[in-house]
Amino acid sequence: MTRVFSGVKPTGHLTLGNYLGAMRQWAAEDQRRSDALFCVVDLHALTVDHDPARVRRLSRQAASLLLAAGLDPELCTVFVQSHVDEHARLSYVLECVATDGEMRRMIQYREKAARERERGGSVRLSLLTYPVLMAADILAYGTDDVPVGIDQTQHVELARDLAVRFNQRYGHTFVVPRATNPAVAARVMNLQEPASKMGKSDDVGPGIVYLLDEPDVVRKKVMRAVTDSGREVVYDRQARPGLANLLEILAACTGGEPAELAGGYDSYGALKKDTAEAVVEVLRPVQERHKELCADPGYVEGVLQEGAGKARAMARPTVDAAYRAIGLLPPVNAAR
Ligand code: TRP
Repeated sequence: MTRVFSGVKPTGHLTLGNYLGAMRQWAAEDQRRSDALFCVVDLHALTVDHDPARVRRLSRQAASLLLAAGLDPELCTVFVQSHVDEHARLSYVLECVATDGEMRRMIQYREKAARERERGGSVRLSLLTYPVLMAADILAYGTDDVPVGIDQTQHVELARDLAVRFNQRYGHTFVVPRATNPAVAARVMNLQEPASKMGKSDDVGPGIVYLLDEPDVVRKKVMRAVTDSGREVVYDRQARPGLANLLEILAACTGGEPAELAGGYDSYGALKKDTAEAVVEVLRPVQERHKELCADPGYVEGVLQEGAGKARAMARPTVDAAYRAIGLLPPVNAAR
């Protein structure tokens, strides 16, 4: 069976973009059709300025939201990255295969590092090596498919390159993974800045709908979405990005086609109203399940504990094999 791995980073509250763009497909498709692991990648949350208590809180919340979104521990493995040592263990070995130049070319690194320097801050070394840790996340599990947004494609490409290079130099050890951009996934954009994606790390913003926003908050944010000048409702991503975003969100929530839906509206107001209600309805069951899970923290902890055990058992043989292949002396009496 195809092995699938993906992760969410607990750097901010999960958004409608995370849900429509990824989590919903993981629950509806990936966990059923493949042997899937979904990971709260908390180590990745330490690559930028962070508040320890907040990371802890967001990690717990992300895990609950993955379950609330429909991931079923009977079908897939849900766990927290730092609970499984193999990620960091493999990351170091892959650092010995990756090059400095390769890391500095990563678009996300360049953007984030530039932003940090502009603010006069310092850039953590882990921000530079982050893609190697991500490659370790993927390669440790013999992953075939990595369902991610297009902004992560370059990182998955790097994981491919490292797998191929390692296999060539040291013998076949890793499955070579590929990124899959989910076919029906919506690329949800920020409601106030339709040129940038609705990312969770952008912190608070009136243009971001969070999975746990109350219905009235959702309505307010959608009703205040930036639209483009012009009056008629048409679907044109280039010329009318704000409108296109609303139509795509509505389409993703109701299962229609953006261009077709456009024909049914003669005012922006009516479109916004329907979009707001559609989002509220899509979020309702997720929020209800999340509330139930919060009332039963022991259940979530149990899922994560079991998930970590399963993940460790899957990753260990591959990581051990990589250690041997690259020339590290196996420990004596290793029962592993
Ligand atoms: N870098 C990803 C993001 O920012 C999160 C991530 C970390 C990930 N490790 C992964 C995604 C492995 C897929 C597979 O969204």
